[in-house]
Amino acid sequence: MQDKLFVNNEWVAATSGEVFDVVDPSNNAVVHKVAKAGPADVDAAVKAARAAFDTGPWPKLSGAERAAVLRKMGDEIAARTDELARMEVLDNGKPLPEAVWDIEDTAGVFHFYADLAERLDNDAEEEIALGMEGFTSKAVKEPVGVAGAIIPWNFPMLMASWKVAPALAAGCTVVLKPSEVTPLTALELGAIALKAGLPAGALNIVTGLGPDAGAPLTEHPDVDKLAFTGSVPTGSRIMAAAARDVKTISLELGGKSPLVVFADTPIEEAIEWIMFGIFWNQGEVCSATSRVLIEAPIYDAVMARLAEEAGKIKIGHGLEDGVLLGPQVNKAQQGKILAAIEKGKAEGARLVCGGGVPEGFEQGCYVEPTIFADAPLDGHVWNEEIFGPVVCVRSFTTEDEAVALANASEFGLAAAVMSADTDRAERVARAFQAGIVWINCSQPTFTEAPWGGYKKSGIGRELGVWGLNNYLETKQITSYDRSKPWGWYIKE
Ligand code: NAI
Ligand code: MG
Repeated sequence: MQDKLFVNNEWVAATSGEVFDVVDPSNNAVVHKVAKAGPADVDAAVKAARAAFDTGPWPKLSGAERAAVLRKMGDEIAARTDELARMEVLDNGKPLPEAVWDIEDTAGVFHFYADLAERLDNDAEEEIALGMEGFTSKAVKEPVGVAGAIIPWNFPMLMASWKVAPALAAGCTVVLKPSEVTPLTALELGAIALKAGLPAGALNIVTGLGPDAGAPLTEHPDVDKLAFTGSVPTGSRIMAAAARDVKTISLELGGKSPLVVFADTPIEEAIEWIMFGIFWNQGEVCSATSRVLIEAPIYDAVMARLAEEAGKIKIGHGLEDGVLLGPQVNKAQQGKILAAIEKGKAEGARLVCGGGVPEGFEQGCYVEPTIFADAPLDGHVWNEEIFGPVVCVRSFTTEDEAVALANASEFGLAAAVMSADTDRAERVARAFQAGIVWINCSQPTFTEAPWGGYKKSGIGRELGVWGLNNYLETKQITSYDRSKPWGWYIKE
């Protein structure tokens, strides 16, 4: 496992010599130590990225040449799937099948953006029809410059890929700041880039804490674009930092996403997606459907089956066979979730199941699958992102009521609706104020489709061509054919 910063294609210690602990959340044991970057290290990384952009080969290569490197990175990630997935389990706690899924997805993201990089050779220029004779114009796409990417701990390598792959595809150079909670797989991207032949400085990786390493990156005048995934308060701080030098930003922040289940949904299907929507990845998912609205006629039946199935989820170490719920990512996150559960109880929400640390798992950061009914609409657990395996369920009687309840949130990342009536499902999907809407499912995420939120859930879209456009500037090039003098000052 890597333990140094990756700057200009070299592994270097932090200038301070400091390191920080990497902790396995299944038992809170320190498993590794990695370099703790400070402002001087971030400055060196940004300078490397700046030089690589201004004078290095990367932005000047053809799209096909960049694609070849990105494809090699994707191939190498795919070849190392099992090893990287196990690293992710050690660092994050997630069950191995989820980690394998993440790593396969990560390889897919590099392959996808390799294809888009190649397409840029033909798509980067567009003729513009002008309404004046004698002039022709075209819009040309160019890389934005140096991108600073700051990512969270819930899908460590996948979230890195969502930013690094499109940025490199566009011809940008990158400084990546992984979460201090899960630095391991992001650091491997350095080794993977080296092996694939990425030129020096095109990708730099600085591990460290938010204030020491994240903030200096957001404030650095040589960074042109910031891409962030994480909490609303940090996103808001990054937006403020970006304002000074007017950097381009994309933010993917929190959510409190609704899942509306109409009574014509088969009960077992409802149970499957309600559970997948909140218990998958320990509920540490920005798009988790943590507010579930069930149409009154099936409410009691769904609640009974839901509590029964939630109680059956196999909890344990991520490497153990059949485990579907691992530990939360660290003690702080576990504490935050348990505190939210206490607030829910205090404000009168009814605990249907779970609510604490599962028996026999006190050595790790585990939290039971937890279901609340009747949470007050103005309370904490109904409105605040908990980012854990905690779901609030209510019943509704009309479609209008369901849509109004679903949209009554400061967030707007995702929303889901289940119904056998396709017209109704489509109508509700259109009425949701959210950037990602699922019909008859919740959570499946596709590299080809746009990802991002309305309202406080963020700015901009990642993935698909939208993700590439985050890293491209548009330049207008207009020519005059000199067919006649302009004649404003110089009269004939
Ligand atoms: P955070 O938003 O503070 O951290 C995310 C990243 O931002 C990390 O790499 C961190 O080092 C960096 N960071 C922190 N402060 C910074 C600053 N001032 N300037 C620049 N970078 C900075 O989230 P944290 O503390 O890990 O988790 C807190 C809560 O955030 C969670 O409980 C959850 O509710 C939410 N969250 C949301 C995620 C999402 O996917 N939308 C992912 C992770 C957390
Ligand atoms: Mg860890």
